[in-house]
Amino acid sequence: MVRINAKLDPTKTGRDAEYLEASLRKLIVGQDEAIEQIVNIYQMHSTGMNAPGRPVGTFLFLGPTGTGKTRIVEATAECLVRNPRAVIKIDCGEFQHSHEIAKLIGSPPGYLGHRETHPLLSQEVLNQFHTDRCKISFVLFDEIEKASDALWNLLLGILDKATLTLGDNRKVDFSRALIFMTSNVGAAEMSAILNPKVGFASPHRAEMESGAVGDKTKRKVSNSGIEAARRKFPPEFVNRADKIVVFKPLGQDQLRRVLDIELGMVQQRVFDSSGVNAFVFSPTDSAKDYLLKEGTDVKYGARPLKRAIEKLLVHPMSNLIATDQVRGGDMVRVDFDGDDGKLVFLKEAEGMPPHYMQQITAASLNALNGATGLLLNEENARVAARGGRKNL
Ligand SMILES: Nc1ncnc2c1ncn2[C@@H]1O[C@H](COP(=O)(O)OP(=O)(O)OP(=O)(O)O)[C@@H](O)[C@H]1O
Ligand SMILES: [Mg+2]
Repeated sequence: MVRINAKLDPTKTGRDAEYLEASLRKLIVGQDEAIEQIVNIYQMHSTGMNAPGRPVGTFLFLGPTGTGKTRIVEATAECLVRNPRAVIKIDCGEFQHSHEIAKLIGSPPGYLGHRETHPLLSQEVLNQFHTDRCKISFVLFDEIEKASDALWNLLLGILDKATLTLGDNRKVDFSRALIFMTSNVGAAEMSAILNPKVGFASPHRAEMESGAVGDKTKRKVSNSGIEAARRKFPPEFVNRADKIVVFKPLGQDQLRRVLDIELGMVQQRVFDSSGVNAFVFSPTDSAKDYLLKEGTDVKYGARPLKRAIEKLLVHPMSNLIATDQVRGGDMVRVDFDGDDGKLVFLKEAEGMPPHYMQQITAASLNALNGATGLLLNEENARVAARGGRKNL
């Protein structure tokens, strides 16, 4: 029976949008506003409610370095088309001159080399990562403040009409594209708020030293970013961006969560690529503290974290694999040795069956589980089990 006068709830989101939001929250730390905006736009698109003849959505991401501006674009692609590399990335600084613009759109017929140029922004390139379930393309213009006038005009056309005209006059349709733009404008002002010069009394100093970034500071950073963007970019551009989001500096707790996500990705890599050598590693809290200390910086956010993980954890582990000290089915505890000031690796168990390895990682790495499908690939699991037992 149809009920009339039933109150409807317009704040509820659909299942796909809910899934996207939950998945992004597992991968991206401390940037709720950016997640919400992406999810809103995605839902508008999936219900056919977004403005016709325009890209699915256009975002301008500002904010300090190493806070997730690029990562959230990859993560969105990862969640929607299961491929973080599905992002077509254009570093605006690399397209300053007209011959460089030709790399993007190809050169007109008759020009030398016309036939050999494959424009970076053709329809085929745009559509190459579409899946049966999701036909959205992800285009990222990085550091737009470095764009030349020619690139700028091209970008305005895409934002306005969702169309790009290639050198040979073919049209590229961007109406199924999410356009992300990042910029470092205002970075100096933002970092002046975050990193006052040594010796200067600052109301934010104590909070930065304690690792917590308060709401007031975040608001200040946010406002200074948006003001800088309005000063730097022409109004017709700022008005064309559906959403401008200033990414927030990450505090110590958030960096710790980023570390957990990164460690989960390393475990996933071990599962994906090790075949017979799939094993489980488990870092202790003091090992994590050490990685965090070595890999984060108020100034560079989470940017140096990956490098620290590669150098201090992944590289030694690859030595352990190469020298047969770690084999399929092993459990390796990673601890911090305070006397030596470095990580130590201890074999805690061996010959673990794949389903057990899966259980352990699901429990300890549930920050990731579900978002990227952190599962021991079935085939790897079987091989690891055989290899593991055979070797041990
Ligand atoms: N908010 C976050 N959530 C999860 N991971 C993050 C976050 N911020 C940074 N990271 C980690 O740090 C790395 C660097 O971050 P990212 O490339 O997104 O920085 P950015 O904000 O684009 O900086 P830049 O302005 O220098 O380009 C990411 O690959 C990711 O591993
Ligand atoms: Mg970036």
